[in-house]
Amino acid sequence: MTEVFSKNDLNKLAKEETPFFAFSKEQILKNYHEFGKFFPNVEVFYAMKANSEVPILEILDEAGSGFEVASAYELDILEELDVEPDRIIYGSAIKPAEDIKEFYEYGVRTFAFDCLQELEKIASNAPGSNVFVRIKVNDTGSVFQFSEKFGTNVGNVVSLLERAKELGLNPYGISFHVGSQASNPMAWAHSIKLLQEPLEQLKEVGINIEILNLGGGYPCQYASSESILTLEEIAKNTMEAYNLLPYQPRLIVEPGRYIVADAGILVSTVIARVERDMGEWLFIDAGVYNALYESMAYQGSTRYRMTSLRPSYDSGEKAFSIAGPTGDSADIVTREALLPSDINTGDKLVVHSVGAYSLVVSSPFNGFPKPKVIMFDNI
Ligand SMILES: Cc1ncc(COP(=O)(O)O)c(C=O)c1O
Repeated sequence: MTEVFSKNDLNKLAKEETPFFAFSKEQILKNYHEFGKFFPNVEVFYAMKANSEVPILEILDEAGSGFEVASAYELDILEELDVEPDRIIYGSAIKPAEDIKEFYEYGVRTFAFDCLQELEKIASNAPGSNVFVRIKVNDTGSVFQFSEKFGTNVGNVVSLLERAKELGLNPYGISFHVGSQASNPMAWAHSIKLLQEPLEQLKEVGINIEILNLGGGYPCQYASSESILTLEEIAKNTMEAYNLLPYQPRLIVEPGRYIVADAGILVSTVIARVERDMGEWLFIDAGVYNALYESMAYQGSTRYRMTSLRPSYDSGEKAFSIAGPTGDSADIVTREALLPSDINTGDKLVVHSVGAYSLVVSSPFNGFPKPKVIMFDNI
């Protein structure tokens, strides 16, 4: 088990070599347990693509979470931790055949699909397994949208699940993903409403699905978030729609971002303060390539809250552009960080709510390594 530091060790933050991530065990568990609190009887399968650091997986494993897994490489990490196969679902709708086989050999029996070819691939490589069909839903308002790439039209649900049965698979359920970092509190409820008719039709052909998989998308409150959307509000709307279905399959969720995003901070050091034509810039020792991928301007362009680790010496605040250490033009974290105006080389910055889709997408571009990770009981 990984060492978890206590709150009293917080001065470690100031002394550690940067850049590094610090995670709060308490916050991860709080986020995890909120699903059970707001969605009665839900089963959580943490989407480990959001953050697959072993200490985080260990915390969730111990808490009883399941895992939504996206590749045989992610599965290898869970195998090392001895996670039981019945707590794993292979949630990517499109998968390499060899990966399906590897999951099956490990004992995993639950697979997503969204087209006939994929169903046939599962039938050959994971015979008799449970399959759930992913439908395409309206993901307007979500920062990262999947409906172009994944999901079948809802009108195909009945024929695909019937075909699954013919192929010897168990027509286990239906899933959707409203897009990551959603902003519409009704997105899940509207998706569920699409299922009214297919559930009736499935009943008529003798198929009663066992699970309804609500996917991920539950948002984090970033500095760039325009509205505050709580899990409680999402759950209330979602449960109302769910209770109106002809019958109530067991509920599954696959949250990634919500579990880890606000449980992690990044501590980074200012390596230069420079004047450019359009204002002043701080270059820091971590950027979009090794820690802050989602802040890249042409991606979701998440703006993270940033603070200085040392207090301001009464010098007031000033807006800075923040750049990462690489030579690339895309390595710009933000153009509007409000920080103490006397901040300078050697000062440390804290970037907040960076626990999701950061470490997992870090690349060694320009040779900068992935930042290290420190676990705290709380931060
Ligand atoms: C199949 C699947 N499930 C769950 C997730 C997690 O989504 P989020 O991090 O928005 O909760 C993703 C994200 O890409 C996904 O593709």
